[in-house]
Amino acid sequence: MANLVLKNITKKFGKIVAVNNFSFNVNDAEFVTLVGPSGCGKSTTLNIIAGLEEPTEGEIYIDNIFSNNISPSKRDIAMVFQSYALYPHMRVRENIGFGLKIRRFDKKEIQKRVTETADFLGIGNLLDRKPAELSGGQRQRVALGRAIVRKPKLFLLDEPLSNLDAKLRTQMRADLKILFSDLKGSVVYVTHDQLEAMTMSDRLVVMNDGIIQQIGSSDGVYDHPSNLFVAGFIGSPMMNFVNVKIERGVIYSDGIEMALTKQQLDKIATYGYKKEYILGARPENITISKSESKICFEVEVVEDAGAEYIIHLKNGKNRISLISEKDISPKRGESLNLQFDVNKTHLFDIDTEVAIY
Ligand SMILES: Nc1ncnc2c1ncn2[C@@H]1O[C@H](COP(=O)(O)OP(=O)(O)O)[C@@H](O)[C@H]1O
Ligand SMILES: [Mg+2]
Repeated sequence: MANLVLKNITKKFGKIVAVNNFSFNVNDAEFVTLVGPSGCGKSTTLNIIAGLEEPTEGEIYIDNIFSNNISPSKRDIAMVFQSYALYPHMRVRENIGFGLKIRRFDKKEIQKRVTETADFLGIGNLLDRKPAELSGGQRQRVALGRAIVRKPKLFLLDEPLSNLDAKLRTQMRADLKILFSDLKGSVVYVTHDQLEAMTMSDRLVVMNDGIIQQIGSSDGVYDHPSNLFVAGFIGSPMMNFVNVKIERGVIYSDGIEMALTKQQLDKIATYGYKKEYILGARPENITISKSESKICFEVEVVEDAGAEYIIHLKNGKNRISLISEKDISPKRGESLNLQFDVNKTHLFDIDTEVAIY
């Protein structure tokens, strides 16, 4: 396995800047996920790493070797696409072994590796079938097999689970995590699904509009989002955002009056005062209070999510949601006293959208 370094990569298609001054690295045996909405430049970045696209600017190092001029076939990288791209006329056996065959591996070696790989993936009994005779999940495993069998330096996976139904996707998510951990593979994984990114990765590269927003562990980006975009993109149900004013250490907005901690006030003082800010609070960090409180909202809708309720509330121009246990039965229009876990709130600059804390 190998490490990967991207330095100041930019890719332009005419006037479109698909990837803008991108720098990140993948350590040996690390699982790194590029995550962001559709069109943010994830596939373009993977294609540049694979050598299928040439960067307009910047440098690529694979295993510490400057690789911009190395052709895709010599980069020793395996790529798995959303579409699987299996050869329909070939059996599973030939599909998995094809990359070795064109690299002129010995027939016996091909057979050995194909069998090993198929067994490893739990598809050893399907080697004589053609892709049309397989389920979506089985095809996905064949596509993975074709990548793994070559023992490449680096795996690139572009939305490999998007074509699977929800249940299978959840299972494959766990399977892939185990698989690459067993292989000690260096992986760059691409998805628009923040939950997939959170559950599978050692580190996430959160992207928007071709620009890296934040690089960090799942906990890191969840607990300490660097800006409003990351805060809203990572986590479901989404973080609540409310425009607020701060006066004498207290946050005010429709339905909200909350004293800040000394630490938070210090951070605001260091950052510089603004007329208005955006307060962020995750739904799981808002609780319903039995006693009177200074945060009061009216119930709009109660969603039964099975294990819990997601309650949507409003007060004036503010709309928020919270997650609650099912031991209560709130009614539409009912007023609820709430408590925000102040230490877990976030504050953003209303103009630059940068996180103040
Ligand atoms: N070959 C191309 N020619 C022109 N524009 C492209 C090309 N490939 C991608 N783009 C544009 O670059 C941006 C990033 O695309 P892409 O990397 O495919 O995003 P993602 O994989 O995150 O959905 C988009 O605006 C897309 O339309
Ligand atoms: Mg894409």
